[in-house]
Amino acid sequence: MSQPLPNLAFPGHDKLIRSIDAALAAGDEHAVTASLRNKLCQLIRDHDVELPACVHEPIVDHYARREIYRSPEHGYSVVAMTWGPGQGTPIHDHSGLWCVEGVWDGELEIVQYELLEQDGDRFRFRAAGGMNAGPGSAGSLIPPHEYHTITNASSDKVAVTLHIYKASMDCCSKFYPQSGEWFERRDSTLVTDAAD
Ligand SMILES: [Fe+2]
Repeated sequence: MSQPLPNLAFPGHDKLIRSIDAALAAGDEHAVTASLRNKLCQLIRDHDVELPACVHEPIVDHYARREIYRSPEHGYSVVAMTWGPGQGTPIHDHSGLWCVEGVWDGELEIVQYELLEQDGDRFRFRAAGGMNAGPGSAGSLIPPHEYHTITNASSDKVAVTLHIYKASMDCCSKFYPQSGEWFERRDSTLVTDAAD
């Protein structure tokens, strides 16, 4: 028997899914992600959608990834992430998948990186702009422009983000500093945390 697809119950579930489904009809990936960004900002500000209580619970030793929905029809994946104070990511890619990420709660530092050159598993990146994103803001990444870091720089507040990926993202590459602008690529399997 195959596992049922993730599908948590929460107030506003149908509205969220209807909005995402409608945005997928916008056209190419630029149009789809632009539409999703707008809808996500609107949904966060409207407060009609109340994410499941579990997504407000940080996990002590890593930022939490909880998949709350996977579309049986379109294959996209909706993942809520919970960032405890100081938690964040190294530079990472998105496995070639577009994604749209919205801040639900708290504030995050997001820095985009540009890939300047590659030598085998060594990558040279340069920070191409950073922002502090608060509730109701959303951004998107379309490969090949898919490198960034996310950090909750707060010393005491939890942050929550909602991520919509073109498909389930089960792995990605993470990049660790070597010297100067050079980073070493390591493949990483992404696991999800229990959501209930
Ligand atoms: Fe990311």
